[in-house]
Amino acid sequence: MRELKILVVVVFFSLITYWGVEPFAHSQMHKHIESEGFTYKNMPAVAEGDVTKGKELVMANCVACHSINSQNVPTPMDAVTASASYGVNPPDLSNSGTIFASNYLAAFIADPAKASNVSHKFPEGSGKAHPMPAYNWMSPEEIASIVSYLKSIAKKELTPKEVYVDACGRCHAARYDGKALGEKWTQIGQKERFKYEKDSLAFDIKVLDYQANLTKYMGKLPPDLSMILRARSENFLETFIENPQIQLEGTAMPAVGLSKESYEKVMKHLENIGDPSKPERDALGIWFVLYAAIFTVFAILWKKSVWKKLH
Ligand code: HEC
Ligand code: HEC
Repeated sequence: MRELKILVVVVFFSLITYWGVEPFAHSQMHKHIESEGFTYKNMPAVAEGDVTKGKELVMANCVACHSINSQNVPTPMDAVTASASYGVNPPDLSNSGTIFASNYLAAFIADPAKASNVSHKFPEGSGKAHPMPAYNWMSPEEIASIVSYLKSIAKKELTPKEVYVDACGRCHAARYDGKALGEKWTQIGQKERFKYEKDSLAFDIKVLDYQANLTKYMGKLPPDLSMILRARSENFLETFIENPQIQLEGTAMPAVGLSKESYEKVMKHLENIGDPSKPERDALGIWFVLYAAIFTVFAILWKKSVWKKLH
């Protein structure tokens, strides 16, 4: 009976530390901000537009910089050349209509710096401007038509990686995103395993050139996101990705304008690459508990038999 009392006391204090003290200390060190659910409340809703008109506008205005692979609109230039001109490779627009919240998309087309909350990087009179022109000379109906067109061509269901590639992949590498050694996500695309070292090095050099341009544009190289789930809490990531300025004032990371579903896809992707063995471990958990339970029963039986002999 004494052992049982000791056990109860130990368990009690462990639980207090686990659920009480640790989370409390954590909340004292990090400010807790509530997410707005990726609704971008300060951006007006967009009306239904004219898809045909939207297509004309996109073909006349956007494809000088953006590819639209699904519509056979090719990349105007490779990623490294694009980064030399714009600091970053403009994302493919095939799935923008699904990836981004519609009201954000409209606000972004009208004024990219304002919508993505990086106006502080392009102060008036500095001669610096956001690399994507503002289309606020278009009427709200025209912008709504562009959004409707982008939604009409976008796949409705995207894989977690598809969302990551178009929303984050131009800025953030992920070195554990690969099945075999040497494979990884880089800002210029997936690095596959090369047969010849010389081709592998040539690819790496392109990545370095791209990263140099990106660093110039952003002020620093955006961090590799492979292990970010371990470094930051879910609440931090959610509110940071929704509105980077709210967690890191003055940060160079733009607001990306993800829809709620896209945010969940991105998190899923980060989980897949940061912790690829999680499903197996989860499946293993129940077996471990079972093992521990059986082991305990045997330990008690054994102890009883030992004591019986002694008395
Ligand atoms: C002069 C080149 C240029 C043109 C023209 C251009 N863009 Fe962009 N666009 C960019 C660049 C560069 C970025 C990436 C900016 C960044 O990541 O900081 C971008 C980003 C985007 C994004 C991603 C937004 C986000 O939050 O991640 C969308 C969507 C987009 N553009 C749509 C359009 C549409 C629609 C048009 C036409 C109406 C257009 N762009 C015209 C250069 C351009
Ligand atoms: C146009 C480039 C760009 C895009 C697109 C972008 N980021 Fe970032 N991101 C940055 C930069 C720059 C930083 C470094 C910010 C700083 O330290 O001030 C950063 C930092 C981060 C951080 C680290 C914050 C911290 O300090 O812990 C996370 C997490 C992050 N980004 C997630 C994302 C996700 C997820 C996406 C896609 C939904 C994304 N980013 C898209 C440029 C970008």
